[in-house]
Amino acid sequence: MAPLAEPSLRESSWYVWHAPYDALDSVETDRLSAVQDVLGEALDGSPAGPLRVVSACAGQARDLLPVLIHHPRGRDVTARLIELDPLNAAFLDGALGSTRLTGVEVVRADAGETSAYAGAVPADLVLLCGVFANVDPGDAARTAQILPCLCRPGGLVVWSTYGAAGTGPVRVNAVLGENGFVPVAVREPADRGWTVGAHRFTGRSRPLPDSTRFFRFVS
Ligand SMILES: C[S@@+](CC[C@H](N)C(=O)[O-])C[C@H]1O[C@@H](n2cnc3c(N)ncnc32)[C@H](O)[C@@H]1O
Repeated sequence: MAPLAEPSLRESSWYVWHAPYDALDSVETDRLSAVQDVLGEALDGSPAGPLRVVSACAGQARDLLPVLIHHPRGRDVTARLIELDPLNAAFLDGALGSTRLTGVEVVRADAGETSAYAGAVPADLVLLCGVFANVDPGDAARTAQILPCLCRPGGLVVWSTYGAAGTGPVRVNAVLGENGFVPVAVREPADRGWTVGAHRFTGRSRPLPDSTRFFRFVS
């Protein structure tokens, strides 16, 4: 893996990308609420006992962290947040410092490589929020093919996609279905341009392969 660069203003764009989440009412806040709702439902329906969560391309984890803080099952969760951008990773460290979520770790790494997940999978809940929106259909298929290595049998993958740059919801549903995932929730309000989904894994988990790349963001 290439050495990770130090934070710089040039790298601030994925940090600034999160700013619309602070608006009172925006397409992005609607999508964020939908993801939080689906995550809350996922925790509501999770079996008793410890839960493992992994979030690929976690960004500032505006989706997962508030749910873990407020949901009664949050204290049962051990989570790995995988984020490449140094400013977002620093944001996550700071945000976590003011919570009691001692089981949540931030790993600054490339989530498109299997090595970033070593020791954290198979998980009960895998977040791929904003990933399919930024990868082409070939990488979306490769991501779905690796998911049986990331997700435990009966576990959930929660995902979102939007925009024209990456892979749309029809293709995402298709590649997840081809790899043993069945839809349990889909949020796709008219005229908002985003889809949030949750799919349950009905297959058998596979061992995580070493150093295997399955996606790269398109830009
Ligand atoms: C579209 S944002 C999504 C953030 C968050 N999951 C959400 O939905 O609010 C994508 C995030 O992925 C990060 N990212 C891009 N490529 C990555 C990679 N290969 N590995 C890990 N993180 C990556 C960016 O820095 C950014 O924070």
